[in-house]
Amino acid sequence: MVNVLVIGSGGREHALSWKLSQSSKVETVYTAPGNGGTKNNVLLDVTDLDGLSEFAQKNNCFTVVGPEDPLAAGIVDKFNELNLKVFGPSQAAAQLESSKIWAKNFMKRNNIPTARFEIFDDPQKAEEYVKSIDYNVVVKADGLAAGKGVIVCNSDDEAISAIHTILVKKTFGDAGNKIIIEERIDGIEASYIALSDGDVALPMASSQDHKRIFDDDEGPNTGGMGAYSPTPIVTTDLAKKIQEEVIEKTIHAMKNEGISFKGFLYAGIMIKDGKPYVLEYNVRMGDPECQPITMRMNFDLYDYFVASVDGTLSSMPSLSWKDQFAVCVVLASNGYPGTYSTNDEINGFDSISNNTHVFHAGTKKHDGKIFSNGGRVLGVTSLGDSLDSAISNVYSATEKIIWSNKYCRKDIGKKGLSYF
Ligand code: AMP
Ligand code: GLY
Repeated sequence: MVNVLVIGSGGREHALSWKLSQSSKVETVYTAPGNGGTKNNVLLDVTDLDGLSEFAQKNNCFTVVGPEDPLAAGIVDKFNELNLKVFGPSQAAAQLESSKIWAKNFMKRNNIPTARFEIFDDPQKAEEYVKSIDYNVVVKADGLAAGKGVIVCNSDDEAISAIHTILVKKTFGDAGNKIIIEERIDGIEASYIALSDGDVALPMASSQDHKRIFDDDEGPNTGGMGAYSPTPIVTTDLAKKIQEEVIEKTIHAMKNEGISFKGFLYAGIMIKDGKPYVLEYNVRMGDPECQPITMRMNFDLYDYFVASVDGTLSSMPSLSWKDQFAVCVVLASNGYPGTYSTNDEINGFDSISNNTHVFHAGTKKHDGKIFSNGGRVLGVTSLGDSLDSAISNVYSATEKIIWSNKYCRKDIGKKGLSYF
């Protein structure tokens, strides 16, 4: 029996901890720093690499890294130097997410389908470029900005204002020292996530996120307001295309460039005229995609994490999934992704039925009670035999969870329904 340390504090990490604790090989799952829903919390920051490695060493842990910040800071390299078992990509591999410019140049030199783009650090030149082209653009900060450094523009004026926000006002700090201006592709988005050991990549179940704050994809981008799995948008044909033309090509090209990619590789895909384009890479599970995907797993996730680390995924049985749909609705604090209040007591957890799991994100526990403690607070996730029934199950569950500043989208999963 081993102990597992899951690093992170979001809904993704609660879902990973929950699933890993079901493994017959796992004794105790610790979560650092965790949230009001996770057990055995270790109060260490996700970027406190010294503290985390000391804890893992002392408690004989296999470590699973949830979020991008510690990966970009080189946690996997550090743990490897100390001979500690750790699941996730190295700092060099994490560049696929930590620098959007690195990722775009990587895709360009390896013929991986993505929107055409230019890079700027001079606002004047960026403005001139925008005025010289005749298509709509998306302006992106180069570095990590918690999913918020991307501005989708409808006009030259919006693009110029986005350039100012990132390069002049420095709203995203040093993450915005350089920007990408890329062609806006209007299509349908899906998340495609695979588990790799550096050579092979096993696809996870398909999923679709809902990035905007309001129904019908209105308002600013967020970390993600809900997700469901599987999504009919990713047909068998399309999945094959993405697996071969994006995922395997990426893993092999990374290897050719001397970087072994181990961990979750997440491609944010835009599908237009049946063709997939990579909008972004993430080097970790998606949040909230992780919650519905985890609910459908019929396998021991711990075994696959070990195989990813050991480079033995090719000898593992293929992944098996519950033949059901799972829908996760994020309950957020009113005002997110802008300013919002916290510390509201949350009630109703006792009345949740068996087909539903409430994953915590921005919560904390005090005297046995749960309080809101962040923007995305809970991820209510339900199974159902059809997408329709999973949606009605999840929305009846969300009604039961009560606090004064609760907000959620009402249309999670709706886009998938038109495919049946
Ligand atoms: P990213 O973090 O790069 O995935 O961007 C966040 C969101 O912005 C995506 O999920 C899309 O909704 C949108 N987006 C990014 N790039 C593009 C693009 N080239 N065309 C249209 N929408 C985009
Ligand atoms: N749900 C999008 C992300 O995890 O980046």
